[in-house]
Amino acid sequence: MELQQELAQGHIIRTLMEENQATREHIARLRQLNSVLQGMDEEDEKTFELNSLEAVAANLLEVKLHHQREEQVLFPEMEKRGISAPLVTMRMEHLELQVLEHAFEALSHARIMDYSLLQSQVKQLVDSLLYDLEKHIFKEDYLLYPHALEVILAEEVWARMKDDCEAIGNCRFQELPRRRTQKAQLISAL
Ligand SMILES: [Fe+2]
Repeated sequence: MELQQELAQGHIIRTLMEENQATREHIARLRQLNSVLQGMDEEDEKTFELNSLEAVAANLLEVKLHHQREEQVLFPEMEKRGISAPLVTMRMEHLELQVLEHAFEALSHARIMDYSLLQSQVKQLVDSLLYDLEKHIFKEDYLLYPHALEVILAEEVWARMKDDCEAIGNCRFQELPRRRTQKAQLISAL
């Protein structure tokens, strides 16, 4: 995004936007996995799919830290500058998104879940719940963050906020498993 490129590397808004971009990619991966998993049954070999699902779910669980930085660092500074209604909405949406966290938590143990339960949980997430997260991310990127940059002007305030954000921590997204190419499989078989 344009705004993201204008901000220095490590600026807390840039980091939040990068995390939103990664979250969109995880959502897309979850959608792909859903369509594959709906077509498989109990007996099919699905180690790769389940490993991928666990990694995606673990990554999406990390978004909790993103919300914490917003609620504990960004929102209070905006509130001090007279912004309230949009932040009430954002806090409420974070609460509503906790339903998703429970689902991600369960899916981060996909390997030990009953397969038909797993299929229905992933389907429900993809069919309805994920849209709430996408809408929320969209509002952050296009409304909330530009607004924050408009009202918080002092560099030293941003510097202090960065320290506070670092104390909470960024999302620790893990690399998703990749399917080994045929060539790699052949080499390892030698
Ligand atoms: Fe948020």
